[in-house]
Amino acid sequence: MKILFVCLGNICRSPMAEGIFEHKAKALGVDVTFDSAGTGDWHAGEAPDKRAQETAKKNGVDISGLRARQFIEADFDRFDRIYVMDRTNQENVLQLASSSDEKDKVRLMLNETYPDENRSVPDPYFGGDDGFNQVFAMLDRAAGKVLTELKQ
Ligand code: 4NP
Repeated sequence: MKILFVCLGNICRSPMAEGIFEHKAKALGVDVTFDSAGTGDWHAGEAPDKRAQETAKKNGVDISGLRARQFIEADFDRFDRIYVMDRTNQENVLQLASSSDEKDKVRLMLNETYPDENRSVPDPYFGGDDGFNQVFAMLDRAAGKVLTELKQ
């Protein structure tokens, strides 16, 4: 199983998701590989935002080695499941899909913990540290849910 996480810049939400899922999958012994990408390319090549790195680090998750990249159409072939962080990411990724199979791979992250509510993980980039803590908590719960299901 290969899972991709997608947000806008690939420096806050999706690298936090990647790090949290990686950390938890290892702890649970679940064999999944993860990556993340952004719908935009402004931050390509950059490490995650310092605030994202620090929030992850204080929770035991090291995301300092991750580097941002843009989502590309080939990602539909390379991944089994694509988790998008918000409705805008969802629209932008779906626009690049070329079949219903590809569209079916795309899921809103928080529908795992709030089924059918189509909630977005809020973009923490322009806010304070508390936004990052909240995003971490949301992603941590989602990771627990998804990985427990995949372990069964
Ligand atoms: P992300 O956050 O999509 O969670 O990585 C953002 C990062 C950068 C920008 C917006 C959101 N930006 O406008 O540069």
